[in-house]
Amino acid sequence: MLLARVLAAAGKEPAALEARLLMEAATGLRLLDLVTRADAPLGDENAARLQEFLGRRLHDEPVSRILGRSGFFGLELMVTPDVLDPRADTESLVEGALAFLRRTPVSRPRILDLGTGSGAILCAILRSVPDAYGFGVDLSQAACAVALKNLEICGLADRSSILCGDWADAIGARFDLVVSNPPYIGLEEAAGLDPEVARFDPALALFAGADGLDCYRRLAMDLARLLKPDGGAFLEIGWRQAQAVGQILFEAGFRDIAVSKDHGGRDRIAAVRKF
Ligand SMILES: C[S@@+](CC[C@H](N)C(=O)[O-])C[C@H]1O[C@@H](n2cnc3c(N)ncnc32)[C@H](O)[C@@H]1O
Repeated sequence: MLLARVLAAAGKEPAALEARLLMEAATGLRLLDLVTRADAPLGDENAARLQEFLGRRLHDEPVSRILGRSGFFGLELMVTPDVLDPRADTESLVEGALAFLRRTPVSRPRILDLGTGSGAILCAILRSVPDAYGFGVDLSQAACAVALKNLEICGLADRSSILCGDWADAIGARFDLVVSNPPYIGLEEAAGLDPEVARFDPALALFAGADGLDCYRRLAMDLARLLKPDGGAFLEIGWRQAQAVGQILFEAGFRDIAVSKDHGGRDRIAAVRKF
């Protein structure tokens, strides 16, 4: 397909899959129709839409942003410019949290997702744990609206609440599981970011002070009061932050601190347990 060749030449990979997604979105046709009707003319409107999508992609806008939807843990979620595009790396955090819930089963577990963004983590966990109830918090009102929409899309609206606020400041309850993928990029690293990230993910979702650790310092202070006895917390971390985040959690009083890796073999999750 010519479109795939143009994308590949611009280094946009996987080009064939991206071309397929853009074609489907521009024409409203499914792959099967596109193949069986390969000779049918695109039509002016579809051609113009495809041209626009291609232009945006060649200017580094991720396909998920162009489509307004993204895949996460087998779910299809809405994404807008106000939320982080959920990353495959974060699925490792979900898997770790689900394994923890299986090891320490409680009926009707209560889950708190701090910095919920699109609600991706909360949607994935609630879909996998049918009796769980989840609370998501975000500072961005626009992100809270997206999270609410995604919980509704996933059929989870009646098992979840979204609160707009500054981390756990307004939360007095305790939880069986606390999860968070906070911003963790240092301002010093901003210049080196991939344009697909720097230009299209919201700054509020990315940056956390000069060294990228500010949110962990803040969250660590609250975790003990937010966890029920035997509760666990799972924090996504940058792949070079394991030691620094471990130290922050140690200084906050935690002794049972475990770091685990993502599917790429990089340190990605710091977990603590409250006894
Ligand atoms: C890295 S994104 C994670 C989004 C989503 N949980 C995910 O994994 O795709 C971090 C989120 O934290 C939110 N955030 C930043 N500062 C915050 C604060 N002070 N209180 C609550 N949420 C905050 C951002 O708006 C953003 O949605």
